[in-house]
Amino acid sequence: MALLEVDSLTKHFAAITAVDDATFEVRDGEILGLAGPNGAGKTVTFNCITGQLQPDAGTVTFRGEDITTYPPDATARAGIGRTFQEVRVYGDLTVRENLQFAAQDKGIGRMVASIVSGTAATEVEAGLAEQADGMLETVELDHLADEPASSLSYGQKKILSFAAALLTHPEPDLIMLDEPMAGVNPTMINRLAEFVRTFRERGKTFLLVEHNMRLMTDLCDRMVVLDAGTPIASGPPEEIQENERVVEAYFGP
Ligand SMILES: Nc1ncnc2c1ncn2[C@@H]1O[C@H](COP(=O)(O)OP(=O)(O)OP(=O)(O)O)[C@@H](O)[C@H]1O
Ligand SMILES: [Mg+2]
Repeated sequence: MALLEVDSLTKHFAAITAVDDATFEVRDGEILGLAGPNGAGKTVTFNCITGQLQPDAGTVTFRGEDITTYPPDATARAGIGRTFQEVRVYGDLTVRENLQFAAQDKGIGRMVASIVSGTAATEVEAGLAEQADGMLETVELDHLADEPASSLSYGQKKILSFAAALLTHPEPDLIMLDEPMAGVNPTMINRLAEFVRTFRERGKTFLLVEHNMRLMTDLCDRMVVLDAGTPIASGPPEEIQENERVVEAYFGP
């Protein structure tokens, strides 16, 4: 059984079919690249998986659990962390607070349980601070911990979002990244690629959308290419790049 199974997923917007009968899987421990030209349906696919959008047809199964109708907070609790194509950080909070917020248990049921079981709030806060600081060190933003997130460069904000996704509560198994390297300078791109590898070695699975083909080839074990909402090819990056349908989708007939 694959970690994530997307089966016959379809999403329409009025006359547009953004995702059209898409079937693919993400295997435990892999870095899977989801590629395709602008408007191919990559972001809509992400949003249908993590519950920002409801698909019109098809199913999404995560670790054998049908999560198709789950809203975003439930997909996060099921074990999926993600970033968004447009960078999302809380600018007024510090870098550390952004990560503490990400690591927070947002399930009210569990909060009540921790109060009943006598876990002191300060203890919970100390735990969050520790988690946040550990992550900041790993992603090399610890020197900026007390700065407001709004003061970070674009690339640093992208890395902060990446770190926040990894700290989704409870610990996520699958991390979905929607163009994490777009608009980021080459030094930061390499750094982010290195972090993806580090966390894969620690057991995380990645679903990655990127337009930078060289980077996808470097990082991904497999790729799936979408065209007009439908997967047209899947396989190792080297094969994908020579696939006729893929070349046609990108460069026209
Ligand atoms: N909320 C929406 N309402 C109407 N149409 C939408 C909406 N969101 C996406 N679309 C359309 O669905 C199609 C797929 O969009 P999507 O954002 O998934 O593409 P993408 O592959 O992520 O592209 P890019 O590489 O440019 O980010 C596009 O035609 C887009 O215009
Ligand atoms: Mg997109």
